[in-house]
Amino acid sequence: MARFDLLTCCLQALLALALIAAGTFLPSQAQDPSRLSLSYYSKTCPTVQDIVRSEMDCAVKANPRNAAFIIRLHFHDCFVQGCDGSVLLDDTAILIGEKHADQSANSLQGFELVDKIKEKVEAECPGVVSCADLLAIAARDATLLVGGPYWDVPVGRLDSKTASVDLANSDIPTPQQNLATLIAKFLEKGLSVTDMVALVGSHTVGMSRCVNFRDRIYGGDFLLTSKNEPASQLHLAKLKEVCPADGGDDNVAGLDYYSPSVFDNAFFESLLQGSGVLNSDQEMYSSFLSFQTSHIVDKYWADPEAFFKDFADGMVKMGNITNPEGGEVRKNCRFINT
Ligand code: HEM
Repeated sequence: MARFDLLTCCLQALLALALIAAGTFLPSQAQDPSRLSLSYYSKTCPTVQDIVRSEMDCAVKANPRNAAFIIRLHFHDCFVQGCDGSVLLDDTAILIGEKHADQSANSLQGFELVDKIKEKVEAECPGVVSCADLLAIAARDATLLVGGPYWDVPVGRLDSKTASVDLANSDIPTPQQNLATLIAKFLEKGLSVTDMVALVGSHTVGMSRCVNFRDRIYGGDFLLTSKNEPASQLHLAKLKEVCPADGGDDNVAGLDYYSPSVFDNAFFESLLQGSGVLNSDQEMYSSFLSFQTSHIVDKYWADPEAFFKDFADGMVKMGNITNPEGGEVRKNCRFINT
């Protein structure tokens, strides 16, 4: 029996060695969601969490909007091929970056901050921590640093060797889309209606460009959805100051009228008032299909803890969308390894 155990053990060891050897010659490792764990870097890069936190701390103190940039980058990463750092890739002769996608061009920011964090992490543990993981940890820290909830971030993602501007154009929701389409886009990613409302609650921080809300403020929808005419009139006048009927496309206004630099539940109050800046945000409370979502908006306004819990759960769920193609640990988040 003992000899049999020894033999089995040796065979298993040989098989493991063969697999490891084969793995080193494979173009990329397979990406299995179950490879994500909380302890993935505990031996290979035990300080990664501290490095990301301290860099994010400096960046958010310098400009709280950095928190919004990073949270949104993680979302745009995960909705295209899974959370694989594809959003971070620059153009090369053989690759067109997702940065050109309709919802991302002239809009996504925070890439230099990701580079800076990556540089620090590489200095400490070269070639170990993927850009996709770094972004997932940074998005959690971003949330926490502006007053939002904490959650443990499962890690072990790999960085893609490809990007897809076409998938970015088809899969990332737009502010013009109706609630049915928005819900469908989240369901396609394995995210529920509750996940969607909670995750869109991240619009409690950050800004939108005029081009994304002009139709809503000049089309009359804004006051049509109003539950409090005087407050909405005031908000509407301020939005029109920022966003003229012609020109000023890149002028920005807070997505949360009350507190755009703080992660709180005030964004949901704007929706209750009918004063959501983006049409897609207001759809969750005022469209004819909003019977699916308005009670969740009500709940998050009444119970900030419920919002924080569902947001944290939603971010973990979104972060678990992996790219089945697998990948590598990029040295530079903007380019695949050569
Ligand atoms: C219904 C789905 C969503 C739509 C239609 C949508 C749309 C938008 C738009 C149009 C902007 C303004 C961009 C600009 O003007 O340049 C924006 C900003 C933002 N979005 Fe979303 N979004 C959605 C879901 C999400 C999710 C799930 C997250 C994160 C979990 C997120 C995080 C953010 C953040 C933090 C900002 C502010 C960024 C900044 O200040 O630059 N969004 N979103």
